[in-house]
Amino acid sequence: MTLLLDVHLTESDADAALRADALAGLTATPKWLPPKWFYDARGSELFERITELPEYYPTRTERTLLDRSADEIAAVSGADVLVELGSGSSAKTRLLLDAFTSPAHPGGGLRWYVPQDVSESALRQAMGTLADEYPGLRLRGVVGDFTRHLDRLPGGRHTPLPGGTRRMVAFLGGTIGNLLPAERDRFLTGLRAVLEPGEQMLLGTGLVVEPEVLVRAYDDGAGVTAEFNRNVLRVLNRELGADFDVDAFTHVALWDAEREWIEMRLRAERAMTVRLPELDLSVDFARGEQMRTEVSAKFRADRLGALFAGAGFALTRVWTDPDERHALSLATAA
Ligand code: SAH
Ligand code: TRP
Repeated sequence: MTLLLDVHLTESDADAALRADALAGLTATPKWLPPKWFYDARGSELFERITELPEYYPTRTERTLLDRSADEIAAVSGADVLVELGSGSSAKTRLLLDAFTSPAHPGGGLRWYVPQDVSESALRQAMGTLADEYPGLRLRGVVGDFTRHLDRLPGGRHTPLPGGTRRMVAFLGGTIGNLLPAERDRFLTGLRAVLEPGEQMLLGTGLVVEPEVLVRAYDDGAGVTAEFNRNVLRVLNRELGADFDVDAFTHVALWDAEREWIEMRLRAERAMTVRLPELDLSVDFARGEQMRTEVSAKFRADRLGALFAGAGFALTRVWTDPDERHALSLATAA
C-alpha cells in the first residue's frame, strides 16, 4: 500500500540533530539527554507496552475521557481536519476519528487525518491500519519533530489540504509535559503562530496527583519503563557507535514537588568512561552519577486557562475524569 507521507525529518537531519543533542547533553553538568531519542522502533514498541501496564494510568484515563467526551468534542469543534502531534500508534485517536466521521453527528465532517511523529516506524504502522479501518478518510502522515517543524504542518495557508478548511490539532498522552517550561512556551506560541484564528487545539495533560501514584506510573514492577529509559543508550550505541554498557545503568523516577514534574534519570552503577567515536568524544561517569533523560510535568486544572492565554489561545472547555488525574482541554486560536 502507498501511504502519503511528508518527511520533514530526513535521516541525515535526524542524525545531525542526535549528534548535536548528544554532544550538548553529555558534556553538560549534570548530564542530560532529550527524550525524543527514546523512540526508535524498539522504543515505540516499549512505549506501547507501558500504556498497558497496570501502574501506568494516564493512557487508560485519557482513553476513558475520550470515550465519554469525543462526541461533544466533535460537536463543539466542527473541524474537518484532525492533525495529531506525537501520534504514536494513534490507538486512542480512533475514538476521535469515530466521532468526527460519524455521519449521524453534527461534527461528523472530518476529511483528513494528519498524524505527525518522529518515529517513522510507528507512523507507518498506524497509518496502515487506519487506512483499512477508515476507507473514506484521507490520511497524510508527517515524519517530523514538533519542536522544530510546526511551520510545515499541512492544512495551513501555504499547504492546503483539498476539502479541508479548519483544523483541530490534538496533542495527547500528556506529551506536552515532556517539554521543559521554556520549550513548552515556545511550542505553544509556535503552534498558535501557524494556526488561523478559529482553529483549535485539543490538549491532553496529566494532572498533579499523589506522588506515590505518579512515581509508580513511571517505575513499574515489571521493569518495562526501566527498559524504555535505557533504550536511549542503545540508540546512542547504534547511531553514534557509542559503547554504553546499558546494563550498568539503572532507572530512576522521582517526583519534583517544586517543579511539579516526574523526572526520569539513568544512574551509572559504576565509574566508567564511555566512548562516542562519531563525536570524537569520551565521557566519564562517576559511580552513582545520574543523567536526566526526561521530565513529565503535571498540571493543575485551574491553571490551564492561563497556560493557553499566555500563548494566544482561548480555553473553550475542559473535561476531567472523576479522580482528576487527567484533563482534556479544547482551546481556540484567538
Ligand atoms: N500520542 C500517543 C503517544 C504518546 S508517547 C499516546 O497518547 O499514547 C509520545 C509520542 O511522541 C511518541 O510516539 C514519540 O515518538 C513522539 N515524539 C516524541 N518527541 C517528539 C518530537 N519532538 N516530535 C514529534 N514526535 C515526538
Ligand atoms: N508522554 C509519556 C508520559 O510522560 C512518556 C512516558 C511514559 C515516559 N513513561 C515514561 C518517558 C517513562 C520516559 C520514561 O507519561
